Amino acid sequence: MSDVLTNLHPALRQCWHPIARSADVTKQPLRLMLMGVPYVAWRDEEGHIAVFEDRCPHRLAPLSLGSCEGGELRCAYHGWKFDQSGRCTEIPSLGDGAALPPKAQLARPHSVAESHGMVFIAPEAPLHALPTMVEANDANFMVGDLPELRVRGCAALYADNFLDMAHFPFVHRGTFGAQEAAEVSPYEVERDGFSTEVTFEHEFANREDPGVEAGLRPLIQRRRLTYRFDAPFHLALRIDFLDAGGTNTIGFYLCPEDEETVRIYSSLYRNDLDGDEARMKEAIDFEIAVIEEDLRVQTAYDRLEIPLDVTTEVHVRPDRTTLEFRRVLIDLVRAAGY
Ligand code: FES
Ligand SMILES: [Fe+2]
Repeated sequence: MSDVLTNLHPALRQCWHPIARSADVTKQPLRLMLMGVPYVAWRDEEGHIAVFEDRCPHRLAPLSLGSCEGGELRCAYHGWKFDQSGRCTEIPSLGDGAALPPKAQLARPHSVAESHGMVFIAPEAPLHALPTMVEANDANFMVGDLPELRVRGCAALYADNFLDMAHFPFVHRGTFGAQEAAEVSPYEVERDGFSTEVTFEHEFANREDPGVEAGLRPLIQRRRLTYRFDAPFHLALRIDFLDAGGTNTIGFYLCPEDEETVRIYSSLYRNDLDGDEARMKEAIDFEIAVIEEDLRVQTAYDRLEIPLDVTTEVHVRPDRTTLEFRRVLIDLVRAAGY
């Protein structure tokens, strides 16, 4: 087993990765990069999605330069046409009625699926189920998407950072971190296959609750935090406000684009906004500011990798969740046969 995991570690080919928001895949071919491999995605008239490697079998030109005709994709170079199963249906230079070479077939990822507004692919047979988001399927929740971010970094380090509970008063001093205690209370991590969950409750000053001013509730209230992680880089933080009511969930979905680039897709799920778009926009802007604080550290790493030997780093009790995250990745790499 190699001792580090980078964005290009071959074990990640046996995993599901988000490659685009569903709304961004249209009848216009779209080029998308995953682990250094370019893909092309498009939809037919009925909205069915097709994803293939962005390489024409003829002279290997990028198919994303082409155009869609009746749900089929025509290569921009010599006009070969391919249907949504990847089969070549026309070679203009051969004229009508000619036999087409059976090898004229597009290369496809093993699996393609859509879930919670995202397109996912698994380049090879995936070792784990497609990640889900309960809040995305609950009509009580309003969804707000952050703009897609494309940044320098390592997807595993970004996932690690999302799960980390000890950096708030230092990294997030400019947003929510100033009120956070530096000491992290003990907590347990539950492990299920290639997923983990951490739940704990604590007290905090709810300065946003109008019920405090109205004398209905005390300023110090209870909050339950649930961190969910599904390998390789699918994360959610659910915050349940136990006294004031309401739930805020942050979804954080990472795409290892190439050796040193990550695309971050993040969505907010709120059941306390009564459809108020302005308040959702405010929440999105706040979350962008939080992520920007994290980026300052994450983009600056010299080595874009996470150690798979847990003795390389020093772990302390509050790192239990990020240590388990490393163990999941180690088990995943082993299960993938590396
Ligand atoms: S390279 Fe695509 S048709 Fe020739
Ligand atoms: Fe952070």
